[in-house]
Amino acid sequence: MIKIFILLAVFMMFGSVSAGNAPIVIRTKNTCLVYKVNDQQQVCQSYFGNSLNDKDCEVIPLANDAIVLTFGGNYVFQPALRAVHSDGNTSTDLIFGRTETKRLNDNQTQTDIYLKDSYFAFQVKVSFKTYEKEDIIAQWTEYSNGEKGTVTLYDYASSCLSFDSPKYYLTDYHGNWADEMHQTERLLNRGLTTIESRLGVRANEYGHSFFYLALDKPAAEENGKVIGGTLAWPGSFALHFSVDNWDKLRMITGINSYAGHYLLESGETLATPALLYTFSDSGKGTVSRRFHRWARQYGVYNGSKPHLSLMNNWEATYFKFDNQILSGIINAAADMGFDLFLLDDGWFGSKYPRNNDAAGLGDWEVNRAKLPDGLGYLVKECQKRRIKFGIWLEPEMVNPHSELYEKHPDWIITQAHRDLDLSRNQLILDLCNPAVQDYVFNIVDKTMTETPGISYIKWDCNRFVTNSGSFYLPKEKQSHLWIEYVRGLTNVLQRLRAKYPEVVIMACSGGGGRIDYGSLPYFDEFWVSDNGDPLSRIYIQWGVNQFFPAICTASHVSVCPNHTTGRTMPLKFRFDVAATGKLGMDLQVNQMTDEEKTFSKQAIKDYNSVKEVVQFGDLYRLLSPYESNRVALMYVLEDESRAVVYSFLQEKDIHGNTQILYLKGLDPNAQYKLTEINKGSHSRLNDWDGKTFSGDFLMKHGVSAYMSDEYESFVFELRKI
Ligand code: GLA
Repeated sequence: MIKIFILLAVFMMFGSVSAGNAPIVIRTKNTCLVYKVNDQQQVCQSYFGNSLNDKDCEVIPLANDAIVLTFGGNYVFQPALRAVHSDGNTSTDLIFGRTETKRLNDNQTQTDIYLKDSYFAFQVKVSFKTYEKEDIIAQWTEYSNGEKGTVTLYDYASSCLSFDSPKYYLTDYHGNWADEMHQTERLLNRGLTTIESRLGVRANEYGHSFFYLALDKPAAEENGKVIGGTLAWPGSFALHFSVDNWDKLRMITGINSYAGHYLLESGETLATPALLYTFSDSGKGTVSRRFHRWARQYGVYNGSKPHLSLMNNWEATYFKFDNQILSGIINAAADMGFDLFLLDDGWFGSKYPRNNDAAGLGDWEVNRAKLPDGLGYLVKECQKRRIKFGIWLEPEMVNPHSELYEKHPDWIITQAHRDLDLSRNQLILDLCNPAVQDYVFNIVDKTMTETPGISYIKWDCNRFVTNSGSFYLPKEKQSHLWIEYVRGLTNVLQRLRAKYPEVVIMACSGGGGRIDYGSLPYFDEFWVSDNGDPLSRIYIQWGVNQFFPAICTASHVSVCPNHTTGRTMPLKFRFDVAATGKLGMDLQVNQMTDEEKTFSKQAIKDYNSVKEVVQFGDLYRLLSPYESNRVALMYVLEDESRAVVYSFLQEKDIHGNTQILYLKGLDPNAQYKLTEINKGSHSRLNDWDGKTFSGDFLMKHGVSAYMSDEYESFVFELRKI
C-alpha cells in the first residue's frame, strides 16, 4: 500500500514519462503541436495547427521534420544546432530518449523531450510550457555536455519549427531611434531570411524580436492562418526563416550566435530563452489578443494591476531645472489629476555634474547645486499634493567624465588597444563582472533607501554594444559576452525585485530599445519611443501593441510643436492617441494656457473613467494606418460589458471621410449606451452620443461618423445596460 502511495506521489510530481511510438502532443485550448518518433529514432514534428483530438493525433502521418535540425549529417540548410564535439567531430545526431509531462497548475503543462547524441555523451532537452487558456506555447532548449572535454556550440537555437505551405509571408518591425516599429510584410523566397539584432544591449534599437508568419496568403487582421511569435530575450536575437528547395519552411529562433560561439564545459548545461508563440486561423487580431491576455497574467511584472498615470519633466525641462521649476510641475501634475511625478535625467553628479549628456553617469549622488535639499524635498512636495514620486536612473552606463570611470576604467565593455567608442558620450558597464553587478544593484538600492518614498524608477539604457570586449571574461570566452551580460543584468533585476517588489519600474532604452518578454518579468511597463508626435505614435504603438498590451505601453502627451518632428498637433489629438496606451505627459505646464489646463484635467478624468477597459480590455484593430487615412481601434472588456473606441484622421480629407467603424468583440444580444468622451469644440457623433444600440447593430451596421480635418479624433465609450 505504502509503495502505491509513493508511486502515486512520484507520478503527481513528475507527471507522465513516456517512450515508444505514441505521439507526443503539446496542447493548448485551440491548438496542438504533434511530434512522432521515426524508425531512426528521430523526433519529428508532424503537425502544428488547430486542435485535433487524441485519436486523430495518432493517425497523423509521420513527417521527417526533426525537432532540432543539426549540422554535420545530411541536412544542408540552416541548422538549429551546430556543435563541435570534444574530439573535433562537427556532426550531431540526435535520437529520442524519453518524454516527461508535468501538470503545473490548472492552466499550464510542461512537456520535456529528452534527446541524446547517438554516439557522444551530449544531451538536448526541448521543453514546452503551454498556457492553455491563452493558447500560448513557450518553447526552449537546453544543451548539456556529458563529454569529458569542452563542446563548442556555434548555433544553439531555442526552437525549430517546420511548416509546409505554398507561400509564406513574414511581417517584421524595424526602425531606428525615434523612428521605431515600421511594419513590413514580405513574401519569403527560397533561401534564408533572418530578422536579427547584433546589438547585445538595447537590442531592439533597429529591429524587434517579434513577427507574424502567415501561411498561404498575406496576414490579415481577422482571418487566415498566422503564427505570431517573440523571443523572450533582452539581448541579440536571430529569427531564421529558411525555405528549402521543396518549399518547406524551417523557423529557427534563439540567441544570435553571430560572433557568439559558446564553450560548453564538461558537465555544463546551456539553457536558451523561450520562443513564445501561437497559431491562429483567424488572423493577427487573435494573435495579439492572446499575447495581451498572456502578458497581463504571466509576461509583465504586475501586469494585472492598474497602472499609474504620470507627469514627466524630460521634454519640459531637459537638464535645466531647480526646486522651484519642479515644484511647479508637481503642483500642475496634481491639479490635473496625475498619479505620479517622474523626475528625469540631470539630478545627479557632483564633481562631474550631469548638466548635459556628456558627464556624471555613474555618480548617483544628488547634485546639490541644482537640488540643495536633496530628493527628499521633492518627495515631500509630491506627498503634500498626494501624488507619488519617481526617478530616472541609467544604472548600466557610465560617462568617461565621471568619478566612477576614474575609479574603475576596467569596468566597461570595450576592446583593449582600441580607442573608446562613445555613443551618447557614454560606455556600457560590464555586467559580466560580478563586482559590477553588485555595484549596479547597490546604487539602485542606495538611491531607494536614502530617499524613502520613491515609488517608480525609469530604468534607462541609452546605447548598444560596440567594441565587444570584456576585461572580466577570459580570453577564450570573449564570445560569451552577449550571454553573460544578460545573465548579469537578470541577476541584478532579480535581486532588486526581491527587495523592492512594490516599486514600479519602467524599461526605457532611448525609446523602444528594450521591449521584450525577457525583460518584462522585471518591468511593469516600457517607453516605446522618444518620438512623442502623435502621428508617429499611431504607427509606433500600432507596431508594439501587436504583441505587447496597452497596460505597459507608456504613452505621453508631449510638447507642441513636437521636439522630434516639429509638427503642431491639437491637444485633443495628442491626448486621444496617448490615451490608447498608458497615459502620461511630458509638458512644461507653465507654457500651457488656462484653457489647455482645463482641457487636460477633463481628458485625464475621462482617461481614468475608461482606464480599466484600455488597460485590461481586448484590443480590436478596426482600421489600419497602413491601409487608410482613418485609423480606428477599440478595447473591449473580456466580459463584453464595456468598450472604448478611438478614431483618428491622419490627413485632411477635403471631401470628408465616411468610413464606417464596424465594431468587434461586443455581445450581439446586449444593448450598449454610446457616450462620447474627451469631447473637443465640436462633435462628429451628434447622431450617436447618448443613444442605445444593440451589439449586433454596432458590429453589423457599424458607426458611421464623418471626419474631415487633419489630426482630427474622437473617442466614445460603450456600456452594456
Ligand atoms: C532617453 C530617454 C528619454 C530621457 C533621456 C534622458 O533618451 O528615452 O525619455 O529619459 O534618455 O537622458
